[in-house]
Amino acid sequence: MARSTFQTLPGTRDILEPDASRLRHLVTLFGDLAAGAGFGQIVPPMFEDIEVFARLGEASDVVSKELYSFEDKGGRSIALRPEFTASVCRAFTQYRPTTPWKTWYAGSNFRYDKPQKGRYRQFDQVGIEVIGSHDPQLDVEVIALAQRLFDELGLAVELRINSLGDFAGRPAYLETLRSYFESNAEGLSEAARATLEVNPLRLLDAKRPQDAAIAAAAPTILDSLAPDAEAAFATVRRGLDALKVDYVVDPLLVRGLDYYNRTTFEFSAPGLEAAQNAVGGGGRYDGLVEALGGPAEPGVGFAIGVDRTLLACEAAGLSLLSDSAVDVWVIDATGAVDTGLVLVEELRRAGIRADRSYDGRSLKAQMKNANRSGAPVAVIVGEDELAAGTVSVRSMTGGTQEQVPRGQLLTAVRSGLAQSGGPKDGEDRT
Ligand code: HAM
Repeated sequence: MARSTFQTLPGTRDILEPDASRLRHLVTLFGDLAAGAGFGQIVPPMFEDIEVFARLGEASDVVSKELYSFEDKGGRSIALRPEFTASVCRAFTQYRPTTPWKTWYAGSNFRYDKPQKGRYRQFDQVGIEVIGSHDPQLDVEVIALAQRLFDELGLAVELRINSLGDFAGRPAYLETLRSYFESNAEGLSEAARATLEVNPLRLLDAKRPQDAAIAAAAPTILDSLAPDAEAAFATVRRGLDALKVDYVVDPLLVRGLDYYNRTTFEFSAPGLEAAQNAVGGGGRYDGLVEALGGPAEPGVGFAIGVDRTLLACEAAGLSLLSDSAVDVWVIDATGAVDTGLVLVEELRRAGIRADRSYDGRSLKAQMKNANRSGAPVAVIVGEDELAAGTVSVRSMTGGTQEQVPRGQLLTAVRSGLAQSGGPKDGEDRT
């Protein structure tokens, strides 16, 4: 039997108000920060040839287990993007812009993850990528930009950094790591032993206590960095110190994607549950552009999880929004077609957030709507005002009301708003 009602699929949500306004606020804030640091926006497609994402590394869950993949009607193998970095690198190889190429992005990603609070199958990220520079000072700038977003939001986060060294030194380190874990194999969980077969690096951030205890004593990559990588990591630390960005060096930090080398980092929010407390992360991926058929250009960037960051803000009691959605509620008791209609349009054109009631509701019902909206000011027009060519401007907070000539609407509303603490733009931080 055909179903007649539907709900969102597991791991997906409708983002309703006020969360939708918070999301918009965060994206706008991030876009402004990125643009102010010389980044241009990129809006890549939401799906690509599956091979673009396969280059992220078959050993990562994102590729091996979580891709939303399908064949389109033209017989192409396609996947919804699980992240932006691969698409940005693909775009770089496609257009070959001048380097360093600095881009920022915002949008949804898709991962067939196990849904829970803070872990969704469709989730949003904002992020940046820079392609074409090896300079470790750039790593610092990239990290500092993420930190600046959290600071602007007023959200306290913890930053962990690590260096994964160069790809050239990776096989030797992986061997050291593999033999260490193999010699401790009887203490590892079954899942960890399976991971060991695929990628021993991923065992370093094992979450099960029995595995974590063994990982904690593993030989660290920081002890086997090549001189170049070691010098670069020292520059990153000095740079962060110079910018007074707090961090801890965590040699157990490995990221869920396989393309990283040298600097990696992750931000976590203490207010969230440990398994989902990573609010953003990134690092260098110096071989990815080449793996996608492009020139051997290095890259560095990060992505911030918008959904989790907003959850963390909520947990920290940060509203990110002003109290009301609008500044003015227009109450039209005349019932004339062109009264309320014309007033809200005039206010909106003047940049004042305004709304009204519909369906010829009673004065009392409209007053209720005005109260519920939280608008600090109401504009009221009844038969008296209409006959006298005036409007009444009422302070909803103070209860005072004055009648002014119709031509003084904007002046009177603005002064009413100023007295109530100024117009809110809907994106104020409180
Ligand atoms: P990622 O660590 O996979 O890195 O994702 C970055 C952030 O996206 C995470 O820290 C988390 O906040 C959020 N996130 C990831 N998966 C989910 C999910 N299922 N539900 C909710 N939020 C999620 C990347 O995506 C890399 N592309 C970052 C990067 C850019 N590295 C270099 N450049």
